[in-house]
Amino acid sequence: MRALSGKTVTTMSREAFVAIAANYEGVDIDVGTGDGRFVLDRARQHPERLIVGLDPVAEAMQGAANRVSRPRTRQENVLFIVSSVEQMPDELHRSCAHVFVNFPWGSLMRGLILGDPEILTPLAEIGRGGATYRIILNLRIFDDPVPIEVQELPEVTVDYVQRHLVDPYRDAGLRISGARIVPPEELSELPTTWSRRLSYRRPPPSLQIDAFHE
Ligand SMILES: C[S@@+](CC[C@H](N)C(=O)[O-])C[C@H]1O[C@@H](n2cnc3c(N)ncnc32)[C@H](O)[C@@H]1O
Repeated sequence: MRALSGKTVTTMSREAFVAIAANYEGVDIDVGTGDGRFVLDRARQHPERLIVGLDPVAEAMQGAANRVSRPRTRQENVLFIVSSVEQMPDELHRSCAHVFVNFPWGSLMRGLILGDPEILTPLAEIGRGGATYRIILNLRIFDDPVPIEVQELPEVTVDYVQRHLVDPYRDAGLRISGARIVPPEELSELPTTWSRRLSYRRPPPSLQIDAFHE
């Protein structure tokens, strides 16, 4: 798989990844990490865990990858992987204990909302047995004016998740254990750049889906 090491993209084998992961109590991943802020924060809070950020846009993660490789701001327990979910690297197979998706957009958001196996299956495959999944969706996308790419998506509510997503998630190996609207004060505390950006005037209505790997 393609890992960011400082400014360069290098190839990392399954063996190399397993060897790094073996130094830690477990591996967590932030899928669609963007600029990796969530990864850096979690890595600081949990030095005993390896925290992986995954995103297809290498440039977005570059600043964070540079930061963790500089002597003064070095953080060993961080890894950034350049990949989309659709092309999920086999090297991550069954490696993660906690999977986070914060404010996805594009094909990741569509797949999670529509219960598309092309997104759910690779997401499920990176989880160990019993792994937890926390997905936070920005519902402000459904406010007027609704962007074109969202227009044909169903409006996501707790009821929608229970009626329409439990089955496709279960078919992919993920059992939905809860869905809730996230209170604004909780949302603005979330250490991600999009949470800050979206919360600037008023936190967006957001919905959290909790699931676990069966
Ligand atoms: C709105 S940004 C959120 C970034 C970050 N999670 C945050 O909260 O600040 C959405 C991210 O999803 C990523 N993304 C979109 N489609 C994806 C896919 N198919 N696989 C992985 N990441 C994807 C984008 O590259 C982008 O970085």
